[in-house]
Amino acid sequence: MHNIIEVKDLIKKYKDFTAVDGISFSVGRGEFFGFVGPNGAGKTTTISILSTLLAPTSGTVMVNDFDVAKQTNQVRSSIGIIFQDPALDVELTAWENLWLHAKLYDVPKDKFEERAKELLELVDMVEWKNKIVRSFSGGMKRRLEVVRGLLHHPKVLFLDEPTIGLDPQTRALIWQYLKNLRAKEDITVFVTTHYLPETENCDHIAIMDKGKIIAYGSPEELKTQFNQHSMDGVFIEVTGHGIRDEELSADATARTQFKQRGGWRR
Ligand SMILES: Nc1ncnc2c1ncn2[C@@H]1O[C@H](COP(=O)(O)OP(=O)(O)O)[C@@H](O)[C@H]1O
Ligand SMILES: [Mg+2]
Repeated sequence: MHNIIEVKDLIKKYKDFTAVDGISFSVGRGEFFGFVGPNGAGKTTTISILSTLLAPTSGTVMVNDFDVAKQTNQVRSSIGIIFQDPALDVELTAWENLWLHAKLYDVPKDKFEERAKELLELVDMVEWKNKIVRSFSGGMKRRLEVVRGLLHHPKVLFLDEPTIGLDPQTRALIWQYLKNLRAKEDITVFVTTHYLPETENCDHIAIMDKGKIIAYGSPEELKTQFNQHSMDGVFIEVTGHGIRDEELSADATARTQFKQRGGWRR
């Protein structure tokens, strides 16, 4: 049996800047795959290419046996996407948001109703189905997005930092829902995160830093290989710095740039 995702020598440049610098990896069918790295590592760029939202500069990416550059529509109908920026219509109810998506993907009405109910149950959102999305918390919106991304029975679910900005309890819940989903359905889950402890949930992890994959393996393999007790320890061992340090220095850079350009733009 071959892999559901095959990435070979993938490069993405934004003008002169190389955001993804020649990465190759594969993801087996049914895997829970974690793509980990600090802010700016190239995670969103990579997942955007894998999900056809961005064209690669060079290299090949196959998803579900389709080439993302040449068979865009086939790739799109076989994947679900949950990205950082919520794409829900907050003026509509949860159910209306789901129905809109179903129409977009040609899911017939009877199939839609059954599937939507089943998925709302999976993420404990049944009692919210007729409520307006504007009133939802961040975690509820994310759960609704998971439901929406799964309505058309995708073979691969792509999630870009699904737990960012959520409290630890809600973050744990989102991972639990994803694990329940994976136990129930024949689906591959590809998820990016910069919260290292979360990657303990994954079958395999690729650690990315500055556009390159610098380590790959199961959480146990990585901890053994680098002689560490935690994924935080593994990250420090392979990169020479903590993932949070990077974030703090990214914040510091942003603050400096902000001051240099003279504060808020008007
Ligand atoms: N549209 C863009 N134009 C120029 N540079 C970009 C663009 N998008 C991302 N980048 C840069 O590419 C690098 C990788 O970004 P990204 O893929 O968003 O990383 P991550 O998701 O891991 O935080 C960063 O340095 C970022 O500033
Ligand atoms: Mg990102």
